[in-house]
Amino acid sequence: MKMNNAVIYFFGALGGLLFGYDTGVISGAILYIKKSLGLTPMTEGIVVSSILVGAIIGAAGSGRLSDKYGRRINVMIAAAIFCIGAIGTALAPNTAILILFRIVLGIAVGCASALVPLYLSEMAPAKIRGALSSLNQLMIVTGILIAYIVNYIFAPIEGWRWMLGLAFIPGVLLLIGMLFLPESPRWLLKQNREQEARKVLHHLRKGIGVEKELADIKKADAEEHGGWKMLKEKWVRPALIVGIGLAIFQQIIGCNTVIYYAPTTITKVGLGNSAALLGTIGIGILNVLVTILAVWLMDKVGRKKLLLIGSIGMAICLFALGLLTKFGGQSDASGYITLVCLAAYIVFFAATWGPVVWVMLGEIFPLRVRGLGIGISGVANWAANLLVSLTFPSLLDQFGNMLFIVYGVMGILAFIFVSKYVTETKGRSLEEIEMDLKRRSNLLLDKEINQHIS
Ligand code: GLC
Repeated sequence: MKMNNAVIYFFGALGGLLFGYDTGVISGAILYIKKSLGLTPMTEGIVVSSILVGAIIGAAGSGRLSDKYGRRINVMIAAAIFCIGAIGTALAPNTAILILFRIVLGIAVGCASALVPLYLSEMAPAKIRGALSSLNQLMIVTGILIAYIVNYIFAPIEGWRWMLGLAFIPGVLLLIGMLFLPESPRWLLKQNREQEARKVLHHLRKGIGVEKELADIKKADAEEHGGWKMLKEKWVRPALIVGIGLAIFQQIIGCNTVIYYAPTTITKVGLGNSAALLGTIGIGILNVLVTILAVWLMDKVGRKKLLLIGSIGMAICLFALGLLTKFGGQSDASGYITLVCLAAYIVFFAATWGPVVWVMLGEIFPLRVRGLGIGISGVANWAANLLVSLTFPSLLDQFGNMLFIVYGVMGILAFIFVSKYVTETKGRSLEEIEMDLKRRSNLLLDKEINQHIS
């Protein structure tokens, strides 16, 4: 069946929606699970964070597997796991089984986090690759928003099983959609399946520039062997440093303390529960709206500039949040200023670090180790997410909102990291980016030789 390009990119990005829904839904569902299954503070923490443990496993496995067996088939496996996880968590008779299926779900989330940006970036033409790849993040934030709304709808009947189980629907949709999607032309070419790669590119590019693109991919990929050994090579190392660095900074700048814990933060400064719930949905809507803007900004402003602006913007909001508690105390006014700070923080995150990191992870690695590289960066991202999410409640308890100053400092460090290590990828083909890595490493080598001689 011939598919319209828009449909291809829609289904290609749909895994992001499940990533967003499954990570976002627990914030509301946990209130009722706690009552229904009689959770202790400890088991509550485990139920919430078990998905992140699964995601680390999923990201670790899927990247490598996708280099070996293809991007598409692995997304289909992830979709099947999403469905099993949704049903398993919805029907869980006790806490242990719930935790088990949350880990299973996490494996699918981790797979999707690595595979979707990979697939999208390899399908997209260079000129609009940023926009098409950031559809992933748009799906993630849409998934989070749908989860918040579903939570709101099922709250009156305490329907946590519905909240968790509804993820089955997009899971099945993804599975069916992927049956009809083509494999990535770049991966096909790497497998020496040139005819198939040509056919897919013809369809995607409507016949324009296909032979040149094929020749470029072949040229950039020549003589490489792939695998761990290649990832450790000197010319690939800068990509690995950038990948892991961006993945970690995206989390330790505190984004999920807002996404997962917004109601807690809002009630801490004295606003009631209903304001907190509405505030959370407001944050979800803002996240989606600004991400739409980011899709447009990505190929106009460029990834590096966005990252730099974002880290400073977020750092300012975080410092303001921290200082407000010290000097503002508990009042309606400081409650509302907190809301404004949280909103401004989300605007900066959604326009910059949210989408840019996943877009860049799909771009910076050479073809032979693209899956592996993004998988390792994904592991770093989920591990950092786990660390921040697990420690946030107790740290907040101890230090109050002053804690945000620590995340603010991370924002400053992120700025320095980006200015020093990240190179712009906007408007360049994946093959140009790969050649550039080689060129820069040769330059470095030349410099070292010269220094040695002199
Ligand atoms: C990014 C982050 C994810 C976060 C989301 C929020 O996708 O990787 O951890 O929950 O943005 O918008």
